[in-house]
Amino acid sequence: MKKTTKIFLIGFMGSGKSTLGKKIASQLNIGFLDLDYFIEEQENQTIQEIFDKHGEVYFREKEREVLKTVAEKKEELVVALGGGTPCFYDNMEIINRSGVSVYLKYNSGILTDRLMNVKTERPLIKNKSKEELLSFINDMLLSREKFYNQSQFILEGKNIKAEDIIDLLQ
Ligand code: S3P
Repeated sequence: MKKTTKIFLIGFMGSGKSTLGKKIASQLNIGFLDLDYFIEEQENQTIQEIFDKHGEVYFREKEREVLKTVAEKKEELVVALGGGTPCFYDNMEIINRSGVSVYLKYNSGILTDRLMNVKTERPLIKNKSKEELLSFINDMLLSREKFYNQSQFILEGKNIKAEDIIDLLQ
């Protein structure tokens, strides 16, 4: 494994960034940081509460501040970003300047199936039916992929595993 300061995991909601991030960090014996969780800790509120009380623009500003803080940390870390993190301000530049970026790419059908069971925790999708969710993901991917595709590595699949990411970075 090449010496690198940070591995940033990029991808739409439901692409497994946090689950895979924890596994990779443990296999590489380095730290793991979940950006959403870090924002919740700093703000002392859940992501849902931040969206409800302050709105998305406020959330995106906090997300950017926290990303900058994490990018400046000196230690080696695997960072699971939020699904929207790369798509606002100059966040993708900050990410690529500070480490290695890996896009976990799934098509909208797979993402819809994966998200149907866990959507209640996510303010942007919690009230959507399966059909609405599929159409929302298709629209979002159209605008988001130009950011996601700026990742240094892109892994596409049906079931991306921690080992696939580690192999990619060797
Ligand atoms: C968001 C994704 C979420 C969280 C917030 C907004 C998005 O993170 O940051 O609900 O804009 O796609 P996950 O991708 O970890 O669910």
